[in-house]
Amino acid sequence: MKTLLLTLALSAVCGSIWALPAPTPAPYRAFCKTMWLFDANCSDISIVLVKQIQSFAPEIGCEMCHYTLVSVTPQYIMANHTSPDGLYTEMISIAFFPTMVPGGCRASAVSQSVLFSASLLDNGVNYCNLHNLVTASGLSSQPDFLEMTNEWACLSVGLATCGM
Ligand SMILES: *[C@@H]1O[C@H](CO)[C@@H](O)[C@H](O)[C@H]1NC(C)=O
Ligand SMILES: *[C@@H]1O[C@H](CO)[C@@H](O)[C@H](O)[C@H]1NC(C)=O
Repeated sequence: MKTLLLTLALSAVCGSIWALPAPTPAPYRAFCKTMWLFDANCSDISIVLVKQIQSFAPEIGCEMCHYTLVSVTPQYIMANHTSPDGLYTEMISIAFFPTMVPGGCRASAVSQSVLFSASLLDNGVNYCNLHNLVTASGLSSQPDFLEMTNEWACLSVGLATCGM
């Protein structure tokens, strides 16, 4: 009898927990996808981007220096970017593909927040993580450089005011 009461009491407690409006787990991980076209071969572009990420390492101490190189292969760069307060991390990946036209390179770059949040809007953090690399490295001012993204691939692009 005691056991039965306990079971009933417990199921009542559990029942009422389930009846509460559960705090909805925030389902979004903000991200930005962008494509870059360069009039140079991919190995040259990759070297420039890796150098830029390394010179934006936290130890350097500049305002935008919150990048950490995770891995590099000839086809792929992975890096992390952390907010200045260290609370937020975004993971960056850049994949390289030679273009049909010889001597060109297409890069597919993605920055994605590690934490889930209540909104896909990130004030342009993920866009700027990518954009700052091509501007700071000078790649974006090369002739025939092209950056292609839009609100579907990079929801916050319209709100972004990047450092550079
Ligand atoms: C890329 O271009 C550079 C010259 O800008 C050249 O020295 C290098 O050999 C090329 N690499 C490949 C893999 O084509
Ligand atoms: C990059 O960020 C991910 C997710 O927070 C973490 O698991 C990983 O250890 C980080 N890598 C480096 C080299 O900081």
